[in-house]
Amino acid sequence: MSATADEPFLQAKGVAKSFAGIMAVHHVDIAVAAGERVGLIGPNGAGKTTLFNCLLGVVPVDRGVVQLAGEDVTRLPIHLRARRGLGRTFQRIELFAEATVREHLLIAERTRRGDGALWKDLLGRGRPKADEIERCDHILGLLGLAELADAPSEHLSLGQGRLLEVGRALMTEPRLLLLDEPSSGLDHDETVDLGRTLRDAQIDRGFGVLLVEHDVEFVSDFTDRCLVLDAGRLIAEGPTGEVLASDAVREAYLGTMGTVA
Ligand SMILES: Nc1ncnc2c1ncn2[C@@H]1O[C@H](COP(=O)(O)OP(=O)(O)OP(=O)(O)O)[C@@H](O)[C@H]1O
Ligand SMILES: [Mg+2]
Repeated sequence: MSATADEPFLQAKGVAKSFAGIMAVHHVDIAVAAGERVGLIGPNGAGKTTLFNCLLGVVPVDRGVVQLAGEDVTRLPIHLRARRGLGRTFQRIELFAEATVREHLLIAERTRRGDGALWKDLLGRGRPKADEIERCDHILGLLGLAELADAPSEHLSLGQGRLLEVGRALMTEPRLLLLDEPSSGLDHDETVDLGRTLRDAQIDRGFGVLLVEHDVEFVSDFTDRCLVLDAGRLIAEGPTGEVLASDAVREAYLGTMGTVA
């Protein structure tokens, strides 16, 4: 397995996970540097979400080691991995319909600070401080959501809701963001917009992205390097253009997705 040029922020070695005797992920090694944009692709059921869950601590690994900035986090719970810089969004959007766009970020900000003010927010007290609002509005500006700051989140389109999810993740200042199918349910134009906005935010903030995505154009435009999972095993890795054109990828996708270039 080739290592990244920079010292990796995320490194997983020999990660394996099975469910009821079925190996979802077999002995996978990956390394991603902070600031890199890396794709993780593969057919349905390949083990992409399971691998994410192992990296994030959503499920315990059966075997293997997960490291963040050289520290073994294999036994750490999700929130302690998040505190070390591993961010994520959810495959299904989880927003509070009546809360405004800015309030969603304020809640993420309070959670990040862990200053005990969250319960006051829930009771409608605890006015946000100027610097909290400033941080939120900076992120909203980055994601093109500034004009919607005071709108209830139920007014957002699906694409804008995805960006708000990204915004919530960015409030925790991740060094690496794991995105699981951010384009699902979006049409072509919305997907292109999402990719562009994410790219601008990524360049501005410098966080890395590990992107699981079925939209090949998105993967091709957004990532420089790509990993391919098939039946729980890494079958290819390299520059995105080369990987998408490789025989191994064509074979893995044959019959499941006719759109690989
Ligand atoms: N909680 C679970 N219990 C039992 N089996 C599971 C569980 N989660 C995943 N699996 C199985 O593990 C394998 C990998 O699933 P996973 O969801 O990781 O694939 P994926 O690559 O994310 O697929 P998709 O592209 O459809 O999202 C599949 O065979 C799936 O049925
Ligand atoms: Mg999945």
